[in-house]
Amino acid sequence: MSDKFNDLLNRRGFFWQSFDAYKGMVEAGGFYDYGPLGVGLKRNIINKWLRTFVVPYMDFTIEVETPIIMPRIVFEASGHLENFTDFLVTCSKCGRKYRADHLVEDELRKRGVKIKTEGLDERRLDELISQYGVKCPNCGGELGNVQRFNLLFQTTIGPYSSNLGFIRPETAQGMFIDFAKLYELSNRRLPLAVAQVGKVGRNEISPRQGLVRLREFSQMEIELFFDPLNPRCPYLDDIKDVKIRILPEDDVAKGVNAPREVSVREAVEKGYIVNEWMGFYMGLATVFLNELGVPLDKQLFLAKLPEERAHYAKAVFDQVVLTERFGWLEVSGHAYRTDYDLSRHVKYSGQDLSAYRDLQVPRIEKEIRVSPNPVKIKEKYGGDAGKIIKYIYDNPDKVLRDIESTGKSVFEAFEISREMIYISEQERKTYRERFIPHVIEPSFGVDRLLYVTLENSFVERNGKYVLRLPPDIAPIKVAVLPLIRKDPYPAIGRRIWSMLVMNGIEAVYDDGDTIGSRYVKYDEEGVPFAVTIDDKTPMDNTVTLRDRDTTSQVRVPVDSLVAVISSKLYVRH
Ligand code: GLY
Repeated sequence: MSDKFNDLLNRRGFFWQSFDAYKGMVEAGGFYDYGPLGVGLKRNIINKWLRTFVVPYMDFTIEVETPIIMPRIVFEASGHLENFTDFLVTCSKCGRKYRADHLVEDELRKRGVKIKTEGLDERRLDELISQYGVKCPNCGGELGNVQRFNLLFQTTIGPYSSNLGFIRPETAQGMFIDFAKLYELSNRRLPLAVAQVGKVGRNEISPRQGLVRLREFSQMEIELFFDPLNPRCPYLDDIKDVKIRILPEDDVAKGVNAPREVSVREAVEKGYIVNEWMGFYMGLATVFLNELGVPLDKQLFLAKLPEERAHYAKAVFDQVVLTERFGWLEVSGHAYRTDYDLSRHVKYSGQDLSAYRDLQVPRIEKEIRVSPNPVKIKEKYGGDAGKIIKYIYDNPDKVLRDIESTGKSVFEAFEISREMIYISEQERKTYRERFIPHVIEPSFGVDRLLYVTLENSFVERNGKYVLRLPPDIAPIKVAVLPLIRKDPYPAIGRRIWSMLVMNGIEAVYDDGDTIGSRYVKYDEEGVPFAVTIDDKTPMDNTVTLRDRDTTSQVRVPVDSLVAVISSKLYVRH
């Protein structure tokens, strides 16, 4: 299938490698352009994601858009500067560089040794290279030692070379940094889900897998903030009966390969999924993939073992899809990020990123109050007493800390001693407390979803090819095709085309070529419906409506066309 499929995508111009005019540049690896149909398909997949994950849940889900370039401190706080690395190995003869884990895996496979390198450290990779005598595939030269390579793209912000900036490798960080503002805007209510769709960059070492390993790509992410003392998801019932296929962490650790097919409810109850919100989003993700045309038996949630997980995550499932070209391919990640990110940003920014929870039973808190003793202050400092008194009112905690640790607090030329302050202890009932919310994150790669959608839609029919794209995401919904290219047929066709477009249905008008060739073209472009204008149309104002998948045709009055097509565009599975 692969050749025919790739040939169709090329011919129809869905996407192609960028910078094509500058042939053969190594730097072009990992960058792709979308052509007209690719742009439309990508936009429709994003819209479908929004309709699945955001629109029905707008009572607790909001959207943001934050910058792609961020200052260094953000990625110091997030841990990406330290941890977001892949392993690099360089040939000491020709200088070519490889991603070490992929190279070892590929070279060992050629020697009949199947090994999983994910999670191995540089020492172990060095050992495998020397144990199996792995050499540079380009020139046969000796490989150097394996090193870590940071995948963040670096730039400078403004004209100061010391102001380093980085392209975000995930949209997530903007949502963490904005938490305080978003929490206020949402009337301080949890759970709060924040969604963001946007571009990210990862400076991959040697991307060679087309659209599925890009240096610049698009993500659709949600950060769901919740109170760890109240981890229930009130929306779980919406998808509790949805069947998912899952390999939980215990199974993966024991080397079990057979997935379990269970309902979301069962997966949560049996502890395969550690959190209801995670189960909720994994259920929605399965429905989303079903509706993109990926059958359940090609879908799997694969738990990541601790050594395979990103530095911020306590539990992770990769949603993987079986593809013909790339085998099992991750299309989304579902991570329990705990309070890691918010706590780190609190530490690095000093900003308060906590939320409130109401207490069932009020807590008694002791409060120590510090106030000035004006008599003692005046006795010692006379006319300067006023400003010392103000200083104590403004800095009670510091004054107390200083006096408790050194016996005095120094302010300008004055020494404030113990007898110059009153210390009183009061009890206060508190009905609320602060805490740092925990986070569940479903994160989707748009470009990979586009690829798996296309692969699953491709069929061969009587020696011809069809993309059976789900109608709601097809970039063009209707082709309007007059059978006869003379008056009055083209004019009628253009009127119908205009009516469809005015009603928000993406349509094209085409009166070129034979009708058979036009069907072939639009089947290859995944257009789900074709309207033909024939000799009956001027007489009874009806047209034929052809279904791409069955090729069957029905006669429809022109006046009902918009309603009939609209009713067929979105079919929920
Ligand atoms: N935000 C998760 C990821 O980009 O992998």
